[in-house]
Amino acid sequence: MVFGIINFHNMDKLIQNRQKRKVVIVGAGLVGSTYAYALSQSGLADEIVLIDRNEELVRGQVLDLVHGEAFVPTVILREGSNADYADAQLIVITAGSAQKPGETRLHLLKKNADIVGSIAGEVSRQGSLGVMLVVSNPVDVMTWVALKSSGWERGRVIGSGTVLDSARFRYLLARHCGIDVHNVHAYILGEHGDSEFAAWSMTNVAGMAIDSYCPVCNKCSDWKSERAGIEQQVRESAYHIINAKGATHFAVGLAMVRITAAVLRRQNSVMTVSVMLKGEFGLRDVCLSVPAIVTDTGVTKVITGPLSDDEMLLLRRSAGIIKEAVDSL
Ligand SMILES: NC(=O)c1ccc[n+]([C@@H]2O[C@H](COP(=O)([O-])OP(=O)(O)OC[C@H]3O[C@@H](n4cnc5c(N)ncnc54)[C@H](O)[C@@H]3O)[C@@H](O)[C@H]2O)c1
Repeated sequence: MVFGIINFHNMDKLIQNRQKRKVVIVGAGLVGSTYAYALSQSGLADEIVLIDRNEELVRGQVLDLVHGEAFVPTVILREGSNADYADAQLIVITAGSAQKPGETRLHLLKKNADIVGSIAGEVSRQGSLGVMLVVSNPVDVMTWVALKSSGWERGRVIGSGTVLDSARFRYLLARHCGIDVHNVHAYILGEHGDSEFAAWSMTNVAGMAIDSYCPVCNKCSDWKSERAGIEQQVRESAYHIINAKGATHFAVGLAMVRITAAVLRRQNSVMTVSVMLKGEFGLRDVCLSVPAIVTDTGVTKVITGPLSDDEMLLLRRSAGIIKEAVDSL
């Protein structure tokens, strides 16, 4: 599967771009500002620029952030404008409405599609050669909207997808097995939403497939129902947090920093970002989360490892739901 190659004439601009690690965040609400806060502490970026249609809010967020400059690695933090897209390596879109209690991600669809589409169009008009990371929900549909509005090659427009959900899954598995989360490799695939599913066939604990690790761990009386419970908890996590405190923003901010590291440091990291499929897993013209290699040019490869027959059905189901949402726009 071929991902787009950047036009040769743009090479000089691309090289200049890579000398400065500049991230532009569009949407300085809870998710955007939490990400900016975490990113400023990471030392990954030289410059972090915030943009929001609410000028008072963005001014306040920037002022609050710059007052922490003495405590973080050297970084320029400032308010920006559309012109900042041109030389940014990463443009992160968190603009839009947040999920309200009782509201599904798909309810946000139409409101956010207009917002994300117009931002992505402007990023493209400014001649950016960077990567776009879409976080606004429903993220798979918004990734599709941003990709189409930008006219960019597919690998350069990625959604945060199920990177957060996979982290929730790893946390729950680690807690269940009583081991360090860093020893658990596990993925949630499909829609970042109600139809997402755990890829148990790819779940790996302490270097072993989960089915081999189970007898070693030997803690559960009924692993089948324990599995279903863990998967359900992952799927419902956002609803629980939103009901309790109105929004989710800490863990997603960290997930975004993780994706940022892969882009700014050319890490070739495997992550479950949302990406446009063009035949992988037998699916086309739909953005959803599958394991993919992420680096400075975005996604360079989708990893089409073998899924079980049940998992393939669930992936197709997710794809169908996302396509239906896209078609309703
Ligand atoms: N993908 C994920 O894993 C994930 C996790 C949590 C939240 N989210 C999503 O992230 C988005 C932001 O959530 P939040 O809690 O920060 O919401 P928020 O309401 O706190 O912030 C959104 C910000 O976007 C700004 N905005 C709206 N339209 C804009 C435009 N055209 N240009 C610039 N700024 C604009 C608003 O003024 C606001 O400050 C939501 O869509 C939410 O559902 C995604």
